Amino acid sequence: MCGIFGFKGKGNIREIIKNGLKALEYRGYDSCGFFLNNDKFSFYDKKVGKGKIDELVLSIPLKIDEEVIVISHTRWATHGRISEENAHPHFDCKKEIAIVHNGTIENYQFLKKGLEKIGHKFISQTDTEVIPHLIEENFKKDKNIFFAVISALKKIEGSFAFLITKRGEDILIGAKKNLPLVIGFDGHNYYFSSDPIPITKYTNKVIFLQDDEIFYLGSKIKFYNFKKNIQIIKKFDELDMKEYEITKGSFDSYMIKEIYEQPEAIKRTLKYFLDETFERLLKQSIPERIVITGCGTSWHSGLIGEYMIEKLIVIPVEVEYASELRYKSPVVDRNTILIAISQSGETADTIGAMKKLKGKCRIFSICNVEKSSVVRESDFILLTKAGPEIGVASTKSFTSQILILYLFSLTYLFKKGRISKEKFNSKCNEILKLVEKMDFLLKNNNVEKIAEKLIYKTNALYLGRGINFPIALEGALKLKEISYIHAEGYPAAEMKHGPIALIDENMPVIFICVKDKLLKKIIINMEEVKTRKGFIISICDFISEEIKKLSDEIILIPHIENEYLKPFLTVIPLQLLAYYVANKKGIDVDKPRNLAKSVTVE
Ligand code: AGP
Repeated sequence: MCGIFGFKGKGNIREIIKNGLKALEYRGYDSCGFFLNNDKFSFYDKKVGKGKIDELVLSIPLKIDEEVIVISHTRWATHGRISEENAHPHFDCKKEIAIVHNGTIENYQFLKKGLEKIGHKFISQTDTEVIPHLIEENFKKDKNIFFAVISALKKIEGSFAFLITKRGEDILIGAKKNLPLVIGFDGHNYYFSSDPIPITKYTNKVIFLQDDEIFYLGSKIKFYNFKKNIQIIKKFDELDMKEYEITKGSFDSYMIKEIYEQPEAIKRTLKYFLDETFERLLKQSIPERIVITGCGTSWHSGLIGEYMIEKLIVIPVEVEYASELRYKSPVVDRNTILIAISQSGETADTIGAMKKLKGKCRIFSICNVEKSSVVRESDFILLTKAGPEIGVASTKSFTSQILILYLFSLTYLFKKGRISKEKFNSKCNEILKLVEKMDFLLKNNNVEKIAEKLIYKTNALYLGRGINFPIALEGALKLKEISYIHAEGYPAAEMKHGPIALIDENMPVIFICVKDKLLKKIIINMEEVKTRKGFIISICDFISEEIKKLSDEIILIPHIENEYLKPFLTVIPLQLLAYYVANKKGIDVDKPRNLAKSVTVE
């Protein structure tokens, strides 16, 4: 939920910190700050508000010839409002111990009360601030900053990835539990980050710290497991750099770039599945039951997966919000598979649900980030190869997720002997035809013009049936989170059991009405809306007289016979609609208010 970036070494510090924080801004951007330190000088600064990183780094002198340590942070507020005193870095009473932190300290009120009782003064309302005060208290006894940090870690409950330094000393300490912390080394300088993206600008040699691990960087770097109290050896891996190229290219936002990247993402994901996953999946026994879990868009792709799996391989599927599943008492056993879906692989609720079921059933994951916590928690991984998704709104990762769910279904259909390998291959070739249709649709549509009709609306209803009901949910989520217009997705038939009361000439109703066995039913629902003067936008793959009569606007998409492939096309106009409406409202689509790309807190 927040981004932490650290550095030790020499160079153009202002540029290094600016690039580091900007690459992590998608994780949170309501304030930012840094603490710069070495044995001769140390200072810090904080800025509140979005897009303040350029201003913040002006406090770093252009020319610093000395070796320095810098810890920096870009925040998504969890505890404590958006303000300077709540921005990171945070300090102990003497402002000697500085910390930047991503995560939540669940027992911070208890710890804070105990520290206040013995005289500690707190400046912020954050949970983070208890850590440097705990360390300060421990230091009085331990007289060693590293041991003081370890003692503090034994009292902390919750998730964390943090960087700590001590004013005037050549010390940098970092630890993690449940949240990512990556270390890079280019032969001279060290880089520390919540994810590898900013580090790959300088090196491809990285270490992904694992849970309960801590490093101490003095004259050299050492690693320990603070739970087992043992020193450990860690080796630098080499990252596949092309996975981490992050540019907008010729697009004016990551979101629109990623919408247009979907055909390529589908091709990459298909190729990777066939090359790396198919044979491994065949060796996995077929379950009697499947539970799918995720959050937001990933939950929507799970609903699509439910249609595919139940219809194709006739295995019962339940789709659960991860935030609910983690506190329920699910009845699972070794014949159940949990499929956790997550783009970022760092969503706290999804990780929580996986940990709840760990050991009780097989844990599969569909994830877009190979070196992520979700992947580490999994018994079997189904990777999407959408490439880094920077825009807060999930787009290319969604279509890549539903592709994996389709390929998962086809693989088990083949394993069950229900289709031949030739049939399996022809279904995969059909996906390449789908990609052409997606490409065509992206280049030939009237969505931008129709978006004008929604800019001043305050509500919208998205209606679909069958496999396109989750697409209605996804379209509504996109509009909500990017344009701030309230939108609801509903099964089209269900609309008459309540939401129909909302219909009037001010309520735009987006219908997904493609040629499938439910089209006639959808037409009836469209008539129900029309008779109440609803404003209808139809997403359809052919224009019948009825659709023409009932629709105020029509977005025509290519037809594809295979019902399981229709969602890949019906979702595109809804992604574009949300994008254009938000863009025309002057909203920063990559960093919409209140949101962050990876929700790493409960
Ligand atoms: C979707 O556009 C949102 N960004 C959000 O709902 C997201 O899908 C959800 O937070 C889950 O994220 P994940 O896929 O990285 O786990």
